[in-house]
Amino acid sequence: MMELPPRPTLFDFHGVSMTSYFTDNWDNIQNFKARPDDIVIASYPKAGNTWVSYILDLLYFSHMSSDRQDSVPLFERVPFLEILFPGFPSGVDELTQLTTFPRIIKTHLPVHFMPKTFWEQNSKIIYVARNAKDTAVSYFHFDRMNMAQPEPGDWSSYLQRFMEGKLVFGSWYEHVRGWWEKKQTSSNILYLFYEDLIEDTEQELGRLCSFLGLSPTTALKKEVTKKVLFDNMKNNKMANGSTDEAFDFKISPFMRKGKVGDWKNHFTVQQDEQFNEDYAKKMKNTDLQFRTVL
Ligand code: A3P
Repeated sequence: MMELPPRPTLFDFHGVSMTSYFTDNWDNIQNFKARPDDIVIASYPKAGNTWVSYILDLLYFSHMSSDRQDSVPLFERVPFLEILFPGFPSGVDELTQLTTFPRIIKTHLPVHFMPKTFWEQNSKIIYVARNAKDTAVSYFHFDRMNMAQPEPGDWSSYLQRFMEGKLVFGSWYEHVRGWWEKKQTSSNILYLFYEDLIEDTEQELGRLCSFLGLSPTTALKKEVTKKVLFDNMKNNKMANGSTDEAFDFKISPFMRKGKVGDWKNHFTVQQDEQFNEDYAKKMKNTDLQFRTVL
């Protein structure tokens, strides 16, 4: 085990709360050279990025040697564009060195921080969004167990900071809205919802394939659908985060619950009322709708 640096602190970066792990490599991120066949999976943290990453990795690469699936962690197969963690190669370096194509790229950047190369190259971008309440709960537990994130404090102060946008990658409200607005004028963006993936994984797999121009065999579709079931991913060492040294599984698992509506086990009636009132203000003038229960 490497010795971990102390938890990072949050600071304002051009109007978005960030930590140095996602800003230290800024020039290289902004100068990144995209390819037209790159596929980006963008999301606010905890929206299901890992889930969609694994689906895509299987769609494109499950025919390759089993080594890839058995011994290469998913976070190496799908590099995280903006990350620079001490002692590890940066996301940009990992992407530049990838030898498999298409490159599947993870990002949590708000849309206005995306390097312009992705728009110039018209790379395909899949945005995954999840309702605010479940995102807040999932992010809280993630920040408890991930020593590479700022100290989360208690749940009620965390929820306040979620509403204020004072968490890593800034405001959820601005993130989901910014990408939603961009999608209205960009045909290279597919906007997916975590809740739809939970409700009907096969249907969303179909949407993904038609967006990507893929026609997988029935057998491959079946294989993918099975391998990406929550319990199967939770037991998959290459996908469940167990190889990530910053995670403390004694505190909480990375593959935690995988449900819609777990917020009900965390929000008090008063927190819910306050949250709803604030939500209505922040989300007025948009037709973007989320489901918080199924
Ligand atoms: P919970 O903490 O609510 O369980 P991300 O990958 O963007 O960090 O998102 C993580 C969230 O997606 C976690 O939510 C995780 O359990 C959930 N998730 C990951 N894989 C999943 C799957 N196959 N099915 C359902 N949820 C999944």
